[in-house]
Amino acid sequence: MNIILLGAPGAGKGTQAEKICERLSIPTISTGNIIREALKSGTEMGLKAKSFMDAGQLVPDEVVIGIIKERLANDDCKNGFILDGFPRTIPQAEALDNMGVVIDKVIDIEVPDERIIGRMSGRRVCESCGASYHLEYKKPEVDGVCNACAGALVQRKDDHPDTVKARLDVYHKETEPLKEYYAKQNKLAIVEGQEEIADTTALVFAQLEA
Ligand code: AP5
Ligand code: MG
Repeated sequence: MNIILLGAPGAGKGTQAEKICERLSIPTISTGNIIREALKSGTEMGLKAKSFMDAGQLVPDEVVIGIIKERLANDDCKNGFILDGFPRTIPQAEALDNMGVVIDKVIDIEVPDERIIGRMSGRRVCESCGASYHLEYKKPEVDGVCNACAGALVQRKDDHPDTVKARLDVYHKETEPLKEYYAKQNKLAIVEGQEEIADTTALVFAQLEA
């Protein structure tokens, strides 16, 4: 199954992608994670993306489309995949269609803006493996330490409230029109994402089985 997860920053795309990945054994492709990895390794693409990402702006379409083209060609995508954070603009969605990639379902996780700011300020991510936690809603076993690899948990630079506001503006302007794009293709399913993580997961699975 080829799945797209849509939603505002902090809606829970990464959190739900992890659950789908466990259940269906298909890889998650997160453009945000790929760009953060590139930045950490100091590649040219990472350096180019840095200023956009730090400011809460989108990285140029041609850069992320290139990343996705390369990643989807990997063998592990043959039985399906979850796209987390791509597409984020109409040209990115058109590029995906033009690659001949057939999407089965687009799940849009809806969370009101006012809930997002609180979630983001509590998020902590592992410096080494990128795993995501929350100070209140998804605590690590040991404070400040990743369950998976014992790496240090830090706050993402773009999770500071001013940058989150910029990311929300970009989301409403550039990404939200994708709901209509996929509704027209009869692929859109909307789930409420403001309750507990497990509640959203149940709604997501119900949509995948529908
Ligand atoms: P990216 O890393 O994709 O960030 P984002 O979309 O802004 O989304 P987040 O990762 O912040 O949120 P999420 O929905 O995954 O939420 P999570 O599950 O972590 O992109 C970062 C940047 O990269 C962009 O700004 C852009 O610059 C660039 N970029 C990436 N893709 C691009 C593209 N296609 N085009 C152009 N530029 C691109 O949850 C958030 C927190 O809330 C966590 O702490 C979690 O534990 C907690 N939480 C989750 N669900 C719940 C719940 N139900 N209740 C309580 N807490 C919850
Ligand atoms: Mg994410």
